[in-house]
Amino acid sequence: MKLGTPLTATALKVMLLGSGELGKEVIIALQRLGVEVIAVDRYPNAPGHQVAHRFHVIDMTNPHALHALVVLEKPDIIVPEIEAIATDMLLEIEQAGLAQVVPTARAAQITMNRERIRSLAADVLKIPTSRYAYANSEAELRSHIETIGFPCFVKPVMSSSGKGQSMLHNAEDIHSAWQHAMSAGRVSGGTVIVEEFIDFDFEITLLTVRALNSKGEIETYFCEPIGHIQKQGDYVESWQPQAMTPTALKIAQEMARKVTDNLGGRGIFGVELFVKGDQVWFSEVSPRPHDTGMVTMVTQMQNEFELHARALLGLPVSTALRNEGASAVIYGGYDSENGLIYEGIDEALQIPQTDLRLFGKPEAFIKRRMGVALAMGKTVEEAREHAKLAASKVRTVKP
Ligand SMILES: Nc1ncnc2c1ncn2[C@@H]1O[C@H](COP(=O)(O)OP(=O)(O)O)[C@@H](O)[C@H]1O
Ligand SMILES: [Mg+2]
Repeated sequence: MKLGTPLTATALKVMLLGSGELGKEVIIALQRLGVEVIAVDRYPNAPGHQVAHRFHVIDMTNPHALHALVVLEKPDIIVPEIEAIATDMLLEIEQAGLAQVVPTARAAQITMNRERIRSLAADVLKIPTSRYAYANSEAELRSHIETIGFPCFVKPVMSSSGKGQSMLHNAEDIHSAWQHAMSAGRVSGGTVIVEEFIDFDFEITLLTVRALNSKGEIETYFCEPIGHIQKQGDYVESWQPQAMTPTALKIAQEMARKVTDNLGGRGIFGVELFVKGDQVWFSEVSPRPHDTGMVTMVTQMQNEFELHARALLGLPVSTALRNEGASAVIYGGYDSENGLIYEGIDEALQIPQTDLRLFGKPEAFIKRRMGVALAMGKTVEEAREHAKLAASKVRTVKP
């Protein structure tokens, strides 16, 4: 494995499709190895734009715009960082040999759609999931819920970060859940999935890495499980490691291996699982770093972004845990088109063993994730307390 020099004819060029806070960290990891990085997003000055060699603003769901940019930039490797991409075009680009897609174009295509990934996991791979059904109308949804029962979840098949998702408690919730899914799904007039509610003890992200070993073969490596708390389908707190029984951990790793073996390629995957005692259910998977995995920036020798960078370059990885830690999300608190001022940074960092990431997003929303507080600790409990405290010290002010 060899690498060239950025901005010369020898450069290895990587294009990030999506340049949010996760992409920004992948770019930094690639920059450290002298990779030439081109950051792409739908709006200018996205977090990753600010640390790349060049950036572009395009509608990544537009196949023609995507193709034209790939022809212009000729990247060696394309790294999808978000779900909302014209994945049919990614497949064409990969098949035409224009660039390699990480982990594979097929993985991006399957995981962007809940119906495709659920069918793969449940029907093809026979992995336990919540009971589920798909509906294309409110009437169809109503009839499926008669079988699935309450409480249940309704989600657009194409959506992320909890958008358009509802938890239903009784028949009166069906109408508004249908409306909500239709208004927030990525494609209008789309399909919804209805899922049985799983009364789990906790949920985890099992970061799973497919990387080359010393023999040059693809091997699967697991990070320690990450526990997290979600509010309205968006993560607010995460920690590593999440304690679980050896049986549950073994089952979780087997499930993650099956799914990622099928998706193929090299890179990191965030496998989301629900756990109750020794029982494990597969929920979904991201073929890329996971937001809850930001905690690895203070817990692992190689964080999830470095692992992704190394894996996609064909370099060896180590998923070893260095120490326990936690992360807590910092929200915008205001809607602002002209950014925010962040106060209390010093107070936050006076808390022992803490760190901060402020993403530099140019536009803020009340519930937009603008930063994250990170903390190491002797125990997960201590780290969680410190991360939450540090996040609470950061006050946002509208300029
Ligand atoms: N069937 C379910 N049972 C229990 N909780 C669920 C279920 N589906 C979703 N959730 C909760 O909602 C969160 C977001 O759901 P998820 O399917 O991961 O959506 P997204 O793709 O937006 O992340 C989950 O992490 C979990 O906390
Ligand atoms: Mg999720």
